[in-house]
Amino acid sequence: MDGLYDKTTRLCIFGPSMRKGDIISGITVETMAAEGKCVAHHDGRVIFLHGGAPGDVVEAQIHKVKSKYLEGRVTNILAFSPDREIPFCEHFGTCGGCSWQHINYATQLFYKQKQVIDNLERIGGLSLPEIRSIVPSQETQYYRNRLDFTFSAEGWLSKDAFDPENPQREPALGYHIPRKYDQVFDVRKCYLQPDPSNAIRLAVRDEALKHQIPFFDLRRQVGFLRTLTIRSTGTGEIMIILQVTYENMDWIEAVLKRLEKEFPAITSLNYIINGKKNDTFYDLDIVCLKGKPYITEAMAKPGGGGMLQFRIGPKSFYQTNSKQAEQLYRIAWEMAGLTRDDVVYDLYTGTGTIANYVAAQAKKVVGLEYVGAAIEDAKVNSAINGIANTTFFAGDIKDLLNETLIATQGDPDIIITDPPRAGMHEDVCRMLLKAAPEKIVYISCNPATQARDLKILSEQYSITAVQPVDMFPHTMHVENIVRLVIALR
Ligand SMILES: C[S@@+](CC[C@H](N)C(=O)[O-])C[C@H]1O[C@@H](n2cnc3c(N)ncnc32)[C@H](O)[C@@H]1O
Repeated sequence: MDGLYDKTTRLCIFGPSMRKGDIISGITVETMAAEGKCVAHHDGRVIFLHGGAPGDVVEAQIHKVKSKYLEGRVTNILAFSPDREIPFCEHFGTCGGCSWQHINYATQLFYKQKQVIDNLERIGGLSLPEIRSIVPSQETQYYRNRLDFTFSAEGWLSKDAFDPENPQREPALGYHIPRKYDQVFDVRKCYLQPDPSNAIRLAVRDEALKHQIPFFDLRRQVGFLRTLTIRSTGTGEIMIILQVTYENMDWIEAVLKRLEKEFPAITSLNYIINGKKNDTFYDLDIVCLKGKPYITEAMAKPGGGGMLQFRIGPKSFYQTNSKQAEQLYRIAWEMAGLTRDDVVYDLYTGTGTIANYVAAQAKKVVGLEYVGAAIEDAKVNSAINGIANTTFFAGDIKDLLNETLIATQGDPDIIITDPPRAGMHEDVCRMLLKAAPEKIVYISCNPATQARDLKILSEQYSITAVQPVDMFPHTMHVENIVRLVIALR
């Protein structure tokens, strides 16, 4: 026995040597760390925990033992944190979606703000101004404008629900179990997208079962119905994209006609034939069976003066929390402090939303983006809004953003950059230093990679504003906007 260790119960009250499978009881969860893991201490060693909430006193089973830290899973909660909330969703714990529902929203915001500060200070080692308080999400439920569901011939069942006498599983239309590519649970109600999203999904499931249309078998890769995407806008338009494995118009029409009849808000009904091994449809043709091949989102122009329209096609990226996207863009626009003489570069422009949003206050906006189809959307979005001072280029920013582009398009006065989670390639950061705009506004959905990139940029720039924004309530994700102003040229 090391310290106080009981071999029968594996309960370790005190002891220097910890083994995989050991149970530690009575530890207090202190805080949240990266990836939403809880943090506690035991015998001077840090323990990263799956489950629990800061302020809980828990029992945990250790599953990883390292010299500097331990990892474990909460097996029992001995005292509940005052910051806890009763999760509102029946799928909490099964679904990977809104995994912070058990923590009240004010506490979620506190940890998101902390995540930003920790990353910028620890990883970036940056000199920072006072970090502004996080902007909460206007809505904490039904805030998403897009959901993607998967069909599965044999839906996942919990251990309690599984009957070995009757092992047959029902077909499911829902979400993947976290980290299980072949396990999908049937969603009864999801709190992420406004009505009639749930009713549409349930009608699709019902109609498919009524006609005995085969759901896809994810392991054997056979079946017909693969995925259902529902996209919606604040203007009340809805797009449906049904993905199937081969052409059978009787089945496709059976499902889509039911939706057409029951849901007049659907303005774009589409299907895709996908016989590939994966569900991505960016390389496939989309057939618009009924309505328009796009939906239109509206956003107030910065500084007033009416609305901007954004066309969203089945393959177009659009920020999934539309109301928060508007706040995010407005803050970025305010931070940029544009004048009509400014040449602006919008890096990672997607469908040109930011470029078109800021164009009225700039001399010219150059938008750069990898996906060719998104660039085509960006041009359409300029045209339908009567914007004539934008130019868009498709390609990898690492290759596109160079001296030749800058020589032909003009020196940037302001660069707005909104990279994916991986952040910017080091060459892109270096090119920004070479281009030396007066200001850089860096929007990020990953404060860790943002901190890494800011470290490079701070060789020549001072950080003058930091504004976290919550786009995804009940998740660990946080968006952050940083303004950099040139210090050295
Ligand atoms: C976070 S999204 C931002 C989209 C846009 N700013 C918006 O708010 O809608 C990141 C975008 O970067 C694009 N992207 C990712 N890697 C890229 C690269 N190496 N070069 C150019 N674009 C890239 C993605 O296709 C995506 O559209």
